[in-house]
Amino acid sequence: MTNIINIAIDGPAGAGKSTVAKLVAEHLSYLYIDTGAMYRTLAYAAIQNNVDTKNGTALKELLDTITIQLINEKEGTKVLVNDQDVTTDIRTAEVNKQVPQVASHEAVRLEMVERQRKLAMEGNSILDGRDIGTHVLPNADVKVFLTASVDVRAKRRHAEQIKKGMPSNLEELKKDIAKRDEMDSTREVAPLRKASDAIGLDTTALSIPEVVNEIINLVKKPAL
Ligand code: CDP
Ligand code: CDP
Repeated sequence: MTNIINIAIDGPAGAGKSTVAKLVAEHLSYLYIDTGAMYRTLAYAAIQNNVDTKNGTALKELLDTITIQLINEKEGTKVLVNDQDVTTDIRTAEVNKQVPQVASHEAVRLEMVERQRKLAMEGNSILDGRDIGTHVLPNADVKVFLTASVDVRAKRRHAEQIKKGMPSNLEELKKDIAKRDEMDSTREVAPLRKASDAIGLDTTALSIPEVVNEIINLVKKPAL
């Protein structure tokens, strides 16, 4: 038995998971663990090393040779692979395209989940991803499943990329998000799914502070 509190936030791309999880973590002084960044890092490493993302055995071998560090900073999570900063490299269109394939392999997921559980045991923490409430932390104290329409999610990503001065195409983003949703929801191993005991929150018409407050209120309920 431990007194550690874990919060699980799952949902499709662009639903607001990482933005909201980071703010809730700051407010509650919890550790924030971006599990998507871990799969992105492996996808990036596979591209760099010419490893076929359809080959689960080769990906697992590659994963065994890399350390992934998530360092929380004011501007967001800094991601290091074998001590090299890949924070921006893991957000490219090429990584977006390859990452659901990388994340579909059982051997890869087993190792990632083990690493994620170890991180979650380090203290009160909030993890965001696709399978946190269903697989990584089935006993999490609070589980939230965030959704929003594909249109709104694509518009949010578009606005974010424009703000960062990145090239951005709204129609391409819509297609990328819809494709990734489909691959993540239909894969055999730990598909994207709302846990039966998760609270569903449609953020289509909600602001970031509204979602953050909802989650903080759930954590502060007397049951915890
Ligand atoms: O930020 P965004 O929602 O676009 O994606 P992400 O959270 O960075 O996750 C990238 C990809 O990693 C997802 O599309 C999934 O294929 C995979 N992923 C996963 O399978 N399981 C997780 N717990 C987190 C991410
Ligand atoms: O992590 P995930 O892919 O679920 O989404 P995100 O990266 O946290 O959010 C995508 C974009 O939507 C960010 O630019 C957020 O600032 C924005 N957002 C929003 O406008 N309204 C919300 N309620 C949640 C996120």
